[in-house]
Amino acid sequence: MCGIVGFTGRQQAAPILLDGLEKLEYRGYDSAGIAVAAAGGAGTQDKPSAQSGLHTEKGSSIEIVKAKGRLKVLREMTDDGRSVPGTCGIGHTRWATHGEPSVLNAHPHYAKDRRVAVVHNGIIENYQQIREKLTKEGFSFLTATDTEAAAHLLDKYYSGNPIEAISKLMFHVRGSYALGILFADRPGEIYAVRKDSPLIVGRSEQGNFIASDVPAILKYTRDVCFIPNLEIVKLTETEIHFYNVDQEEVEETFSQINWDTEAAEKGGFAHFMLKEIYEQPKAVRDTVSPRISEGHVNLDELGMSREELAKVSRIQMVACGSAYHVCMTAKYMIEQTARVPVDVDLASEFRYRNPVMEKDTLVIVVSQSGETADSLAALREAKKLGYHVLGIVNVVGSSIAREADSVFYTWAGPEISVATTKAYSTQLAAVYLLAIGLGRAKGVIDEIAETEMVEELSRLPEKIERILEEKERIQWFANKFSHSKDIFFIGRGLDYASSLEGSLKLKEISYIHSEAYAAGELKHGTISLIEDGILVVGVATQKSLFEKLISNMVEVKSRGAYVLGVTSYGNYSMEDVANYTIYVPKTMECFAASLVVVPLQLLAYYVALGKGLDVDKPRNLAKSVTVE
Ligand code: F6R
Repeated sequence: MCGIVGFTGRQQAAPILLDGLEKLEYRGYDSAGIAVAAAGGAGTQDKPSAQSGLHTEKGSSIEIVKAKGRLKVLREMTDDGRSVPGTCGIGHTRWATHGEPSVLNAHPHYAKDRRVAVVHNGIIENYQQIREKLTKEGFSFLTATDTEAAAHLLDKYYSGNPIEAISKLMFHVRGSYALGILFADRPGEIYAVRKDSPLIVGRSEQGNFIASDVPAILKYTRDVCFIPNLEIVKLTETEIHFYNVDQEEVEETFSQINWDTEAAEKGGFAHFMLKEIYEQPKAVRDTVSPRISEGHVNLDELGMSREELAKVSRIQMVACGSAYHVCMTAKYMIEQTARVPVDVDLASEFRYRNPVMEKDTLVIVVSQSGETADSLAALREAKKLGYHVLGIVNVVGSSIAREADSVFYTWAGPEISVATTKAYSTQLAAVYLLAIGLGRAKGVIDEIAETEMVEELSRLPEKIERILEEKERIQWFANKFSHSKDIFFIGRGLDYASSLEGSLKLKEISYIHSEAYAAGELKHGTISLIEDGILVVGVATQKSLFEKLISNMVEVKSRGAYVLGVTSYGNYSMEDVANYTIYVPKTMECFAASLVVVPLQLLAYYVALGKGLDVDKPRNLAKSVTVE
């Protein structure tokens, strides 16, 4: 999604804004722009829109520079920001929702004569109505964006008191927004407000910041506050004030970010995705070890007693994308380990389906970013219905983390690559811990079984390391198939959930059409797509289903498919069918998803690399989907 940065302080703002935007480029990147309040009042003359894809506007005390394409275009245009004077500004990287990617539609947007400039992340749902109403009142709209409606509304309501104007806007706008705002007659001041879209503030000796995400400002400060929903913030060089929608000043607490900038840098790897794949052993270790003591799982941080856990009669899991695949895995794991029925829904479906749920249902929302709009809406829907919501979240202080009744953090650290890898692995680890804790609370597994599972869980990081040591075999194989048109993944049970993830990973970064099927379903239609040379990846780690899967692989092979088998060491009969086999270390079957996903991630990575694609920033995708 779009990225926002703002700075007001003692240094020149534009280079800091560009620097921050670069760190946010992963969120959305079809265009970018900055608005800087030039010290010393009104600028020179208006420059009309350039048709070249670059755009500069002067004429008020706010200077706006926008460019279509990657941030480097904006950098070149502004001499890395040096040519835009002023120490207070806002910036934006855009991922188009309303209106095509273009200079005109790029942010910042502004009201007539640039009394107000705005950057926005989110979607203003009633922008058409606002637009029609304001047009009748004489406001003229230049762009196709929803954001411009916010700029004009602020202009309309502004009569010298920014907080009042913003709170009036909040009463009229429906949808989600994080806004960074400059008022031309308030030099040195940035205003911000958010509803359902993430925004943080940071403070430092040099000045104060707003940003969509921590990496944007981590170079300058670790002292941040995650702006609570529906709050307004005023920043000057030395002060930060928070207000509620009734314009009353409120106190907020700041927290220290304890991970390093390095964690958000590539650190010698060609791509963030590869770096994050390699960080998985550490991420899983960091997620598991604090929750284990003397062979037992400790879930105290949930704030639920053992009795409360034992009372859970059903679990409803909701998530999107890869996090949804984690839920599919969790269903098998929790049902086996705790004998609690688990329903799994896509968050985008759950939020509108008026679910029928039993009284003691625990709702679990899984999200890396903690800001996914559909997952957040599902959480709110579940809370409205009176259910206890547990969030499995990676980003500390994110909306889902704050609004859930209990939070279980995955300690993956910042994940930058759009395609999730290490967050996925830590989400799996989190659901294993919950399954074991629940199984114990319900008396389904005994202490010995718990200890055995906990010991094996602790060994997963070193087993992932062993898979990474053999990455060349996967790299070699991937090179052969980087020009495929279709690739299928099949599996049964837990391996079906892993197949879904392998297929998503591949298609999102390689743009190769791919589908995953529960292998038993092939005969009911899909097998007609199998033809000569098509790659079918068969995942088989479950002993009781191994022979069944082998039969399905024989079926596709006899119709011309080239078959890649992914299984555990010891299952050597795989080679009787598969044209090529990748082995992962043996583990308890319930944890196998954590191992087979690694070669599937590497396969996707090397196929995309073989095609020369931008692995970390796949087209049309954004890291954090904060709009519906
Ligand atoms: C795929 C991917 C997405 C996310 C999904 C949910 O690689 O990253 O499918 O898993 O958008 O995002 P979060 O976990 O942030 O809610």
